[in-house]
Amino acid sequence: MSTGKPLPHDAAPLHVTGAARYVDDIPAPAGTLSLAFGTSSVARGRLGAMDLSGVRAAPGVVAVLTAEDLPFANDVSPSIHDEPLLATDRVHFVGQPLFLVVAETHLAARKAARRGKVEIDEETPILTVDEALAANSRFEGGPVIWTKGDAETAIAAAPHRVEGSFEVGGQEHFYLEGQAALALPQDGGEMVVHSSTQHPTEIQHKVAEALGLPMHAVRVETRRMGGGFGGKESQGNALAVSCAVAARLTGRPCRMRYDRDDDMVITGKRHDLRIDYRAGFDDTGRLLGVDFRHLMRCGWSQDLSLPVADRAMLHADNAYLLDHIRIESHRLKTNTCSATAFRGFGGPQGMVGIERVVDHVAHALGLDPLAVRRVNYYADAAADEAAGGLSAPRLTAPPEDISETKEDLTSRGGPAERVSVAPARGQSTPYGMAVEDFVLNAMTDQLASGCDYAGRREAVAAWNAREPVLKRGIALTPVKFGISFTLTHLNQAGALVHVYQDGSVQVNHGGTEMGQGLYQKVAQVAAESFGVPMDVVKVTATDTGKVPNTSATAASSGSDLNGMAVKAACDTIRDRIAACLGELHQIAPAKVVFADGEVTAGGEVISFTRAAQIAYENRVSLSSTGYYKTPGLAWDRVKGQGRPFFYFAHGAACSEVVIDTLTGEYRILRTDILHDVGRSLNPALDIGQIEGGFVQGAGWLTTEELVWDDRGRLRTHAPSTYKIPACGDRPEIFNVALWDGENRAETIYRSKAVGEPPFMLGISVLMALSDAVAACGSAYPALDAPATPERVLAAVDRVRHG
Ligand code: MTE
Ligand code: MOS
Repeated sequence: MSTGKPLPHDAAPLHVTGAARYVDDIPAPAGTLSLAFGTSSVARGRLGAMDLSGVRAAPGVVAVLTAEDLPFANDVSPSIHDEPLLATDRVHFVGQPLFLVVAETHLAARKAARRGKVEIDEETPILTVDEALAANSRFEGGPVIWTKGDAETAIAAAPHRVEGSFEVGGQEHFYLEGQAALALPQDGGEMVVHSSTQHPTEIQHKVAEALGLPMHAVRVETRRMGGGFGGKESQGNALAVSCAVAARLTGRPCRMRYDRDDDMVITGKRHDLRIDYRAGFDDTGRLLGVDFRHLMRCGWSQDLSLPVADRAMLHADNAYLLDHIRIESHRLKTNTCSATAFRGFGGPQGMVGIERVVDHVAHALGLDPLAVRRVNYYADAAADEAAGGLSAPRLTAPPEDISETKEDLTSRGGPAERVSVAPARGQSTPYGMAVEDFVLNAMTDQLASGCDYAGRREAVAAWNAREPVLKRGIALTPVKFGISFTLTHLNQAGALVHVYQDGSVQVNHGGTEMGQGLYQKVAQVAAESFGVPMDVVKVTATDTGKVPNTSATAASSGSDLNGMAVKAACDTIRDRIAACLGELHQIAPAKVVFADGEVTAGGEVISFTRAAQIAYENRVSLSSTGYYKTPGLAWDRVKGQGRPFFYFAHGAACSEVVIDTLTGEYRILRTDILHDVGRSLNPALDIGQIEGGFVQGAGWLTTEELVWDDRGRLRTHAPSTYKIPACGDRPEIFNVALWDGENRAETIYRSKAVGEPPFMLGISVLMALSDAVAACGSAYPALDAPATPERVLAAVDRVRHG
């Protein structure tokens, strides 16, 4: 078996020796030009005259382009064509590209870009949630509202109520490799583009539009990214299109990379939001009715904001069965950079809202928050079966009855789809999907006893009773995350596999590698299919010329989708070899066995290489495509009803923190995680994803603070002022374990997606901080995020003095 083994990342030796090539490391041909944007210093206004003579005269400058110089489409939007590459009549945020400098070197381009003299008739920008609400500045006509039951009546009738308002900050992706592209003009006007992108097909599509070419004339290659985290689903378009256009106009190769500050100012980040909530509950903390208002700041263009805001709504229940809930989602348009995908894609924002409600309810009742979580949990699938109640069948594919409109090929949530869905039996989510694979009751039991939650909660209380300055807090929080793109047609993938005469195997698929280990997992799937050792298999760079019409590597679905497509291609070739050998040996093809690099047929054992040679000599094709689409999805985003997800991934984390009540500083003392990856394809990579996801999630909610000033300028645009977690910020004790249970859905070797779900385990840190602050007095801490030391200190003060 090659699947299930904790093998290292295929490029690990290259990563650690610095030999791994990223886009800007590709040896470029002599004469390659470098690009830089001249950007707006004003958040909102009318664009007047641009005097670019100083830019043109600067040393090393070859050309300067404005919107008027663009030969075809001036648009880099992944959704509704509202994002010009270069501004035309108006500017919408500080950092918006106005003109493009083409120069002999990177430095020359950047220096020249600062010499532009641009007149902008400045207007008062719309920056905050309240300003956007007041101006009714939004995407879509009004708020999107989904309901289940009657929240208003249930809250009014409940024995107890809480309400509050919760600010949740955005997040900079801080991928180590910034955005980058390289365009190489070909003969006949064709273009080859290397791009640091999660979505090569999108780059191909936008470059083709910008050059007025059919997609077949543009080939995009992505070997790897130095991190993407959602920030390279759409944000690489501007660079790739710029390079392609400049390459077309100059006839020379062109490359572009953002300097870190530019990257932070220009590109979109996680959506920040305010969550207004009201909840009614009983004496045990059981939630009887919940009402949420999500006020999301989407920035100046639509980008992926609608599906991000949808996914926030889809995770407003997290792990809790809510009979009466109303969610109102406002997608606000502001003069800030256009917020975009970021690990979890809105899910974390929705989930942290209900966790805040549970925390508030527990505080109001003086109960252990974990007890309140547990009375609200969905029932476990296994418990249902044992009780003989709801059946929890394996999630085999329901009949396909999906028909959809395809206005929008590139975003991952979009137009309404016509859907017919069977009503959910038994427990269901607020959007009507049956919850059939829930395991968090059992997982919570295992984690709570394994990390001695109860004993440590007592120890924390004893510590807090004794210690006047340092206060401790502990919290155990769950994650239930839906797996699939909510734009149903994106749930498909292709692969192309070749077996060469020497028995080596080359695998291509539509997924991209950003450090998560997708190539390694897929290589293990291929090795498994052919029964060959790992070194026989090579996964090559993602290439739109090899596998077309791919979806972004996103929604954590990379290995689910591409693993299945690769398996289909490999199995096809293996079956052809088996048929050939079966015929030669006069045995059934099923009797031909592939294992340990050998093939056994009719008592004869030959090497896999020999088998490939025999098949070749018998004129058997050793190349095949593979294709996969996720079964059983049906989703109506307008109504908020259906089955948007193939299955759920689960996890739980228990974090203990200590805060210094004199300064607000804190440490994470210990975190224990139990996470559900189904039957792991590669436990080493999965644990890496869980550790990294948790730390990134904790960073979002603690130290990573984005500050814009009152003129819309991002003040935290460098690591000096924007604090991602450092090595020393990880928990002092950090235990990660994998839940032992296969995926009930028929996924690749019964594994589960792992890329995004662990991010939300970081919520345990925010809730532990809330617990620690609560120990300082009697008021509810109402700790906003990110809970920076300043915010913790202010909360301590509030709690102490009422
Ligand atoms: N892990 C690393 N090391 N680098 C990344 O950029 N991106 C995350 C996650 N894990 C990311 C990562 C995000 S946002 C997603 S959607 C998934 O990986 C995408 O890859 P997958 O679908 O193969 O899990
Ligand atoms: Mo991940 S936010 O789906 O790229």
